[in-house]
Amino acid sequence: MIPDLFLDLLRAAAHSIVPDVEVDPLIPCANPLHGDYQWNFAFRMAKPLKANPRALAERLLPLLDHPAIVEKSVAGPGFINLKLADSWLYEQAQRQANDPAFGTSPTGAGKTVVIDFSSPNVAKRMHIGHMRSTHIGHALCGLHRAAGWTVVGDNHIGDWGTQFGKLIVAYHLWLDRAAYDEDPIGELERIYVHFGNEVELKPDSSDEKRAEATALMDRARAETLKLQQGDAENTRLWKEFLKVSMAEFEQVYTRMGVTFDVVLGESAYAGQMEQMVQGLIDAGLAEESQGALIIRFTEPELKDHPMMVRKKDGAANYATTDLACIRYRQDRWNPAKILYVTDMRQQLHFQQVFAVARRWDLRPELIHAWFGMLVLPEGAMSTRKGNVIRLVDLLDEAVRRARAVVDQKSPDLPEEERAKIAEAVGVSAVRYADLAQHPQTNITFDWDRMLSLEGNTAPYLLYSHARCASLLARAGSAADLTKLRTKHTLERELLLAVMRTPEAVQAALRSVRPNLLCDHLFDLANRFNHFYHDFPVLTGGEDREARLALVELSRRALRFGLERLGLTVLDRM
Ligand code: ARG
Repeated sequence: MIPDLFLDLLRAAAHSIVPDVEVDPLIPCANPLHGDYQWNFAFRMAKPLKANPRALAERLLPLLDHPAIVEKSVAGPGFINLKLADSWLYEQAQRQANDPAFGTSPTGAGKTVVIDFSSPNVAKRMHIGHMRSTHIGHALCGLHRAAGWTVVGDNHIGDWGTQFGKLIVAYHLWLDRAAYDEDPIGELERIYVHFGNEVELKPDSSDEKRAEATALMDRARAETLKLQQGDAENTRLWKEFLKVSMAEFEQVYTRMGVTFDVVLGESAYAGQMEQMVQGLIDAGLAEESQGALIIRFTEPELKDHPMMVRKKDGAANYATTDLACIRYRQDRWNPAKILYVTDMRQQLHFQQVFAVARRWDLRPELIHAWFGMLVLPEGAMSTRKGNVIRLVDLLDEAVRRARAVVDQKSPDLPEEERAKIAEAVGVSAVRYADLAQHPQTNITFDWDRMLSLEGNTAPYLLYSHARCASLLARAGSAADLTKLRTKHTLERELLLAVMRTPEAVQAALRSVRPNLLCDHLFDLANRFNHFYHDFPVLTGGEDREARLALVELSRRALRFGLERLGLTVLDRM
């Protein structure tokens, strides 16, 4: 990608003034009239060097000697603007087009990242609350792969918590056999919710109700412990619940086009708990407190939040599991980093786990890639309140709406193809609406916005891609990229946008924000559509071949970017 091709040159120039200083990479010019890229090094260094930024920039300017740089100037408070040679751009563009990573710098080469995402809890249907982790995590897998990382996408299923004790109790007390045979996950969800209602206390709950709730909770805890200690009957039930849930999850994942490299639920670490807890004690990290085992922190933000690693009844918990899991991942894959994609409510949990891991000399860089909540207009969603929107229902509605548009726009396509297009567009629309938001903002769920077909949306981008593909198909023969020329500013800026796609991939990676790539692709599609509107391609006369090459490059950039985000790209819509 372009900025990295100049790093050596910039380093040499910078180091001739300050040895070993860190160098800012080139970034796109704020104003394209001033150049293609700008370098802010002089501006940034003026203060520490106590130098005049403009004078510093003037000193650096002659050192920036490169055949690709055709114009250079100092602007404003010490920015250096560079303009690149067209012929050099054409050459680089061809190189990018022929690279499977589209020129993305392989910053992850030789390194492994574990991405812990989706990770639903067993015994409930997947609802829209599971959507963001699945979408964002899957996109982060694609982005890391583009940058050369070896990616291990791990679905850390919640298959080992106290919910099983509750479920087992509920199963024995309230299961409707016929309903269970008919719709197993539906019936499990129902009895689980029923359990929650039974133990929920209100200020005016009677003493009798309170006693019943306590008894139920005690029973659930006992069943959980029995399960964790290997009781045969509870293990059999647990396996059954797991099978039912996994079948349901699989259906949704297939529909969403999401895959994992491994699916290692919490239960995978159950066997390591005792040894691990002992390790924490031996290392002097954990201490007894009122029968439980806890870890205290000295970090200011954690000092009032000790973390429990073993409950009074001896059962391990979510935190213990996560610690064992880091150790396991380190031993198995030796990852440079582990990314956890969950909602914001788990920030404290991960701060605690990461703090222990650091003290325990676990090596991987640990990052909690948290995201904001998805709320309904009427407030929080809860299985118990019964206002849950299931993921399959959302996808069905999206596909239905997409189908209406496809039928209207492309009535001549065969039925089967229209169904296929609607499925891809509908599922992509939901995914893109999610990814295009800054992950760390809360989203209020809105059917219309989620499924909108205009503006910065998947349908708009997919149509732009299909428009490129159909133009190229009508041209009759494959575009010849060696014929690339950009006569007009609009064409040249489109080309630059195409070539900046890997820069957007890297920016999205660095900040763990797939939406930065969405913004770039939207800008690219807008530029392409302006170009398409203003310049004839097939009837472009002597410019025909050059423009077809530009269309081909646009097509490849859109495809590359959209596929990194996990969208299904179509040639015909
Ligand atoms: N199952 C958890 C939940 O639904 C998310 C797990 C996230 N991953 C982890 N390693 N703790 O909240």
